[in-house]
Amino acid sequence: MTSILTVDLDTRSYPIHIGPGLLGDAELLRASTGAGQVVVITNSVVGPLYAETVTRHFGGRDYLQLAVEDGEGAKSFANFERLMGELIAHRIERGATIVALGGGVVGDLAGFVAACYQRGVAFVQIPTTLLAQVDSAVGGKTAINHALGKNMVGAFHQPRAVIADTQTLATLPARELAAGLAEVIKYGLIRDYPFLEWIEANLDGLLARDDEALAFAIRRSCENKAEVVAADERESGQRALLNLGHTFGHAIEAAAGYGAWLHGEAVAAGTCMAARMSARMGLIDAADVARIEQLFTRAGLPIAPPPEIAPATFVELMGRDKKNVGGHIRLVLLEALGRAILTHEYPGDAFEATLAASHEAA
Ligand code: NAD
Ligand code: GLY
Repeated sequence: MTSILTVDLDTRSYPIHIGPGLLGDAELLRASTGAGQVVVITNSVVGPLYAETVTRHFGGRDYLQLAVEDGEGAKSFANFERLMGELIAHRIERGATIVALGGGVVGDLAGFVAACYQRGVAFVQIPTTLLAQVDSAVGGKTAINHALGKNMVGAFHQPRAVIADTQTLATLPARELAAGLAEVIKYGLIRDYPFLEWIEANLDGLLARDDEALAFAIRRSCENKAEVVAADERESGQRALLNLGHTFGHAIEAAAGYGAWLHGEAVAAGTCMAARMSARMGLIDAADVARIEQLFTRAGLPIAPPPEIAPATFVELMGRDKKNVGGHIRLVLLEALGRAILTHEYPGDAFEATLAASHEAA
């Protein structure tokens, strides 16, 4: 039942282990964390559920467990500074391995700590949300948030291994499971039409947490992500396509206040905005948009932003996106279901009309 994929990055290649019960695999946990000190960074929700299962494998070793509060707000400068202080105070050395045990928030924060502590120490991702298992734990993007923008301060720092125990999803709240499905659907939309069709056919099983369906969705998502990251680690080209819906989505998250909308929910609404804009430009047709909206709706995800977000607010917030070049907002749009493009050459009126249409619903 366990799959092992590889993110192929030459000497920094690493495995993604996907399967049920992996947190109980002492050999895997020990081999993945090397011989030095181990620091497990988790949060106040995941720690009580899973930290003991992980740390019991480190008996006899010098290990430290640290926890942050739950929620997107944990990706903060304050936590970054506090965690650094703990590592220094506990004399954690350069040969240590940091283990990120939690969802994307813990993974991004702990990964950034690992990237910076003593100029970089090894880290292992143990993602416990669907979103983290299909996306954020793979690919080495780490970050914290700044008041002026999400993920604005960070580093590329690849993990040494990713260990996705699918059994951890049993305790995940339904809203979080749905948010993770937004990123699963993303892979189908941007580069894997057969996977999109598979998701449409198997969505009910995914929502019911059918083990086989979830394992397949995670594996296929990670295969897609691993291929993209291997081809374009630093996002000079096709990796940006993984941001379908994210430029609109990050603006929704910021305007609504971090944490009010889940990342995956904002991505779902943002993807629908990108799809509607693609249709306005004649790239895809109305039936394609309806199909996308129907899939997100079935998954229990929003297909439009809060109507009170004014177009000017979108423009202001999207103007800070990391994909922008020369002040132009670059967007990931759909040329077809299963094929995305990144462009700043789109008609301004299609963009403005897309924003206005969402706002007019107010
Ligand atoms: P999250 O980390 O906040 O986790 C969601 C909620 O589920 C939290 O309350 C968490 O405590 C809880 N939780 C986690 N695992 C659980 C489990 N097994 N059982 C019960 N509860 C559990 O959110 P997320 O959706 O995993 O991640 C979102 C973050 O990921 C955002 O900050 C986003 O920017 C980031 N992200 C990063 C990348 C990347 O490439 N680095 C990609 C996508 C998203
Ligand atoms: N989540 C987008 C990326 O990893 O590039």
